Parts: sequence; structure tokens; C-alpha cells
Amino acid sequence: MGIKILGCGMYLPPKTVTNEDFERIVNTSDEWIIKRTGIKKRHVSQGEYTFSMGLKAAVEALNNAKVSPKDLDLVIFTTVTADFYFPSMSNVVQGKLGAENAYGIDIACACAGFVYALDMAQKYIDADDGVQNVLIISSENITKTVDYTDRSTCVLFGDGAGAVVVTKGNSKAYAHLGADGTGCELLYAHLYPSANFFAEPGELSANYAAFPQGKGRYMYMNGPRVYEFAVSKMVYSLKKACEKAKISVDELDVIIPHQANVRIIDTVVKKLGLNKDKVYVNIKDHGNISSACIPVCLAELFSKGALKPGFKVCLVGFGAGIIYGAIVFTL
Ligand code: ACO
Repeated sequence: MGIKILGCGMYLPPKTVTNEDFERIVNTSDEWIIKRTGIKKRHVSQGEYTFSMGLKAAVEALNNAKVSPKDLDLVIFTTVTADFYFPSMSNVVQGKLGAENAYGIDIACACAGFVYALDMAQKYIDADDGVQNVLIISSENITKTVDYTDRSTCVLFGDGAGAVVVTKGNSKAYAHLGADGTGCELLYAHLYPSANFFAEPGELSANYAAFPQGKGRYMYMNGPRVYEFAVSKMVYSLKKACEKAKISVDELDVIIPHQANVRIIDTVVKKLGLNKDKVYVNIKDHGNISSACIPVCLAELFSKGALKPGFKVCLVGFGAGIIYGAIVFTL
């Protein structure tokens, strides 16, 4: 019972936006952004679909894994920025890849999506019901939800995709997943109101009656409150996942946290007494790519040869909801 990672891929749109670019559109500075977030630049999609970025990462992951699309049994797609109400992103990619023997599931677990997807992949594989090879894709066009007049959110996010091919293996992954829905109003982006000809002003209307702090269709975030949640839930879920895996936090070889803010990561490192060298951080170059952060980190680490067989890895994330989770496994 367990999983094995066969290969990873990633895709980042070519356009990069620097802190200096933000200095020209909002009242901010490179110094403030670096000091408060750790971000220097981010990749921004210029009209690319979420599914097409995911597809590019998926093709690279399949090539690295040496797995044909026809050998896939399941495609899991994580995103908070799907291109369509329907069809699902996983179905679109399944069709484009020619993964004719696979079915698809989309999950919207905010920035923690990849952690949830990996746990789900293992559960489908362990069910021994015909699922052996799973392609997980996390792709985000998060900048399309961003209000570029709100300096406290617009500087934080970037776009891109990561993908991982997982198969049946010997390493059991131990996950601790959790949610605290009392935090829903701290971070959200509304769907469009109904265009139904018969609609009356109501809850789903331009008044955005539910969670009205936000400005229409754009992301609203209470940064300081999200920050507090993030630190406490990442610390808690990482400890819980290690407990389930029956290892101490010190025994982890690599820790990949969600890349939302370098200060959140530094505080988690401090609270858990982690060796900083074991914690992978790439936020400087990519910003926060929501659920794509963790698989992009995995793809970068694999391509650098920094992930060796036998390494104990922990992925830990949190996101809007508030939702959180950590998963521990051996490579
Ligand atoms: N440039 C300059 N000043 C700014 C900027 C900016 N880009 N953004 C905010 N400020 C100002 C504020 O207006 C405020 O000014 P004031 O004191 O005059 O009112 C001051 O800086 C301090 O604002 P805070 O919000 O208290 O700043 P903080 O140090 O908390 O940093 C930040 C804000 C970066 C958003 C931080 O709270 C944070 O990272 N929170 C967590 C965010 C996060 O993790 N989001 C994503 C999570 S889930 C997901 O990934 C989708």
C-alpha cells in the first residue's frame, strides 16, 4: 500500500512582473514588498487558459515519468481559477492528452489543493479498484481575481502550473487535513452574479450580499488574520502528519510549504525548530501561485536532483476557507 512519484513538470507563463512594475501602478516599493513578503517577481498569464497551462505542465510530467497518457487511470485537477463552470478542467485535459483510459476529478481546495489531491490519489490507488497511475495537475490563473488597485493583495500573486505523475508504490503517505470554515470571510473571490433574464436582485446579484467586504468580482483578503491562521494551521498540520507517520519533525529531509509569504514560512520554521536548509522556498521568483506552488517546488527540486530516493518529504499548505493540510511520505 502506498505511492511513488514517477515524474514532475511545471509551466510558468513567459511574462514576468517585477516589484518595480508595481511601483508604477500602486503606492508601493520594492523594499516593502521584499521585506513583508519575500517576493521579487512573479509570472503572469496574458490570457492563457488555466487548462492550457496545466496541460503544458502535464506533458512535461508525463515525459519525465516516461508514462504514456493512455496508461493513466485518473486525472485530478486542482484549481481555484477554472476556465469554465463546466466542463471540468480534468476532463478538458484528459481529452487534449488523449488519456482515453482515465477519468477525471476536479477539486477546489484553494491553495492546499495539491496536498488534498496527493492524499486522494493514494486513497484511489489503495482502493485497488483499477487505479494505478494518477496524474495530478495544479494550475492557477489567480491574477485574474486580483484587484490591481489594492496594493495589499495585487503584489502577492502569480500564475502557473505544476503536475506530478503518481503510481502504486511502497511508501504510504500520511496526511492530516483540516478546515475552519469560520475563516471563510477572510479570503474570497465572488463568482459572477446571475445573468438570468428573470433574475431579481437577490443574494446572487451585483450587490454581492454574501461576504460584502470585497469589491465586486475581485479577491478580498484580510491579510493579517490570514497570516495568523496560516502560521498556526501549518504548524499544527505538519506536527499531526509527522505523528501519523511516526517520525519526528527533525527526521524530515525536505519540507515544502505553501509559498504565500516568506515571513509565514520563517515563523513556521522557528516555531517548529526546523533546519532552514531543509525548507524549500521559491517565492522570490514566482509569488503565490495558489495550489500550483507545491508541485512547482517539487518539479524544481526534482530537476535540480535535490530529491533522492529514501528522503522523507513533507508538503504543507493552507488556503482560503480556511483550509489546511500536510502530507508526509518517503521518496
Ligand atoms: N506596499 C506598501 N504598503 C503596503 C502594501 C504594499 N504593497 N500593502 C499593504 N501596505 C500597507 C498597509 O496599507 C498598511 O498601511 P497603514 O499602516 O498605513 O494602514 C501597512 O502596509 C501594514 O499593513 P498590514 O496589512 O498590517 O501589513 P502586513 O505586514 O500584515 O503585510 C500581507 C500584509 C503581506 C498581506 C500579510 O498580511 C500577509 O502576507 N498575509 C497573509 C497573506 C496570505 O498568505 N495570503 C494568501 C493565503 S491563501 C492563498 O494562498 C490564496
